[in-house]
Amino acid sequence: MTRQTVRIAMNGVTGRMGYRQHLVRSILALREQGGLDLGDGTVIWPEPVLVGRAEHKLRALAERHGLEHWNTDLDAVLADDSIDIYFDAQVTAAREDAVKKAIAAGKNLYCEKPTATGLDGALELARLADEAGVKHGVVQDKLFLPGLLKLRRLVEGGFFGRILSVRGEFGYWVFEGDWQSAQRPSWNYRAEDGGGIAVDMFPHWEYVLHELFGRVRTVQAQVTTHVPRRWDESGKPYEATADDAAYGIFQLDGGIVAQINSSWAVRVHRDELVEFQVDGTEGSAVAGLRGCRVQHRAATPKPVWNPDVPTTEPFRDQWQEVPDNGAFDSGFKAQWELFLRHVVRDEPWRWDLAAGARGVQLAELGLRSSAEGRRLDVPELGR
Ligand SMILES: NC(=O)c1ccc[n+]([C@@H]2O[C@H](COP(=O)([O-])OP(=O)(O)OC[C@H]3O[C@@H](n4cnc5c(N)ncnc54)[C@H](O)[C@@H]3O)[C@@H](O)[C@H]2O)c1
Repeated sequence: MTRQTVRIAMNGVTGRMGYRQHLVRSILALREQGGLDLGDGTVIWPEPVLVGRAEHKLRALAERHGLEHWNTDLDAVLADDSIDIYFDAQVTAAREDAVKKAIAAGKNLYCEKPTATGLDGALELARLADEAGVKHGVVQDKLFLPGLLKLRRLVEGGFFGRILSVRGEFGYWVFEGDWQSAQRPSWNYRAEDGGGIAVDMFPHWEYVLHELFGRVRTVQAQVTTHVPRRWDESGKPYEATADDAAYGIFQLDGGIVAQINSSWAVRVHRDELVEFQVDGTEGSAVAGLRGCRVQHRAATPKPVWNPDVPTTEPFRDQWQEVPDNGAFDSGFKAQWELFLRHVVRDEPWRWDLAAGARGVQLAELGLRSSAEGRRLDVPELGR
């Protein structure tokens, strides 16, 4: 077995996503399983170099996980020829500059979404990376969730017949931060720091809709800030300048209508934090993060509207669970594995900075649609 070390500069690893999903659940998990076996006698061994602003935090992280390399000097890390990949999970507003530096240093790069705070910036990153000839990728983790993989299986197996509509419900109550601490960082609620739920979630909806059902052709959104005052990590009150709920209607190729509500000001009366109901002529499905239930047309009940009598049908019981039929790994890790194979073996990869730019575009158009009170076309982006 040949072991091929791939050195990855990981920036933003003290954050929620950088630490938990990317460092621990992806890169360290790969090391725990002995590396990524390519099946041809080669094992990729990912070697993280932790990058960040606070030395004491990086050192503590490295010590906790037995890692040897960390650095607070991004320029020095990028100047190091042994670094193969730059990964960025910093706050969104800090991403563009760092990614540009990495491209200029000739590094392959992988980053969180949204790739930039605006479409122009996102397109520029895609263009620069193409011109530099580096490999590039954007996290599109929802595609690798068990629930959505089952949904994809249903679509590809022709279960739905003609797909008519998609209804997505995403969200949960994020505490204001005064009497109970908030479970998300405060920058998420400040527009000036790259926050806002449309900017956060519309990039996800773009690739989920596009990959499973069809390209998004129009957007009509209403965003709002339901909770205007919150308390930050140090207990100080601040004005929430960013949207904390975004209600969107999207027209997709093939006449499919998708409606997705995203909110940090909603209490959960669902089985999962995100759920998509898909209705088709032959059947319907409700998919969450992990589960997926279906109802075929042959098993569809015939409710009759009569508000004068109590409901007698156990509607929720009339659905059938889609079996796993396989083992599912962390979605973040699954996508990392594909990216590493793309870098090392040049295997096909489509979740690049151009795909990331489509997500930024949808967020930007969603916000504009809301501000202008009208439906907007989503033009196809060139490269
Ligand atoms: N793929 C997903 O499902 C998903 C989910 C949540 C967040 N995200 C994205 O991941 C990125 C990080 O989000 P998070 O929730 O982990 O945020 P976080 O606040 O928990 O972490 C942010 C990281 O950026 C660093 N940072 C660098 N410059 C900074 C600055 N000027 N101010 C503050 N922090 C700075 C912090 O030290 C920290 O390591 C964001 O771009 C966000 O959109 C993706």
